[in-house]
Amino acid sequence: MTVSRPPLNGFAPYATGDFSSPAVISCSPRSGGNSDDAAAFFREGIRQAGGRSQLFFLRDFSIHPCQGCIRCAQDPRGECYLSDQDQSAQLFQALLAAPSIFISSPIYFYHVPAQFKAWIDRSQSYYLRKENQDPVMQKLAARPAIINLVAGRPQGERLFEGALLTLKYFLKTFNFHIQEQHVFRGIDNADDLRGRSDARETLISAGSHAWTQLSA
Ligand SMILES: Cc1cc2nc3c(=O)[nH]c(=O)nc-3n(C[C@H](O)[C@H](O)[C@H](O)COP(=O)(O)O)c2cc1C
Repeated sequence: MTVSRPPLNGFAPYATGDFSSPAVISCSPRSGGNSDDAAAFFREGIRQAGGRSQLFFLRDFSIHPCQGCIRCAQDPRGECYLSDQDQSAQLFQALLAAPSIFISSPIYFYHVPAQFKAWIDRSQSYYLRKENQDPVMQKLAARPAIINLVAGRPQGERLFEGALLTLKYFLKTFNFHIQEQHVFRGIDNADDLRGRSDARETLISAGSHAWTQLSA
């Protein structure tokens, strides 16, 4: 049986807007902290290279956690029923359409914060669409992702391992491959990253390179 459903939150199920510039997604619940600064440095690099980017703060989006009901597997359009009730689909548009992506996040208990993980879990419906040969998911271009993670602990070999593994497979659904990953330890107070000139330079340079690569 085919059920006709209205567009999600006034947005088409797949991106139709101007997503011609890199998407920069800052994923900390804390406003004005290190993840936001990392995003700002990266954007500054893009700007210096003559480019533009789109900034998203994950905390500004209402995202309900996955219920594990797998109703998306039965939905004619492969959509999660919660997409009518929150703003997760708007944020997924960036992953569907942006030519490259920068994600910055803190480490919370050796992983990403709950809000970010909730969004990641909600990608299950997109994962299933891809598995089921959805033409839009199948045709997504291979694109680069740049990851920046910060953590308060000054040490720890495996501090970023869990988050990076999850991000690799989350992004794979959307045909992103992690081209660069930057991790900074001992970053705890909201202004710690600002005080690290190496981080600033690395991220500005990464932003410039990302834009140059796109426009090459
Ligand atoms: C709930 C919570 C859990 C945290 N867990 C860890 C952790 O497991 N390892 C660590 O090194 N830092 C941990 N931190 C510290 C944050 O990673 C650190 O403060 C980071 O700089 C915050 O980034 P932000 O400024 O972008 O919010 C935690 C902080 C909070 C609030």
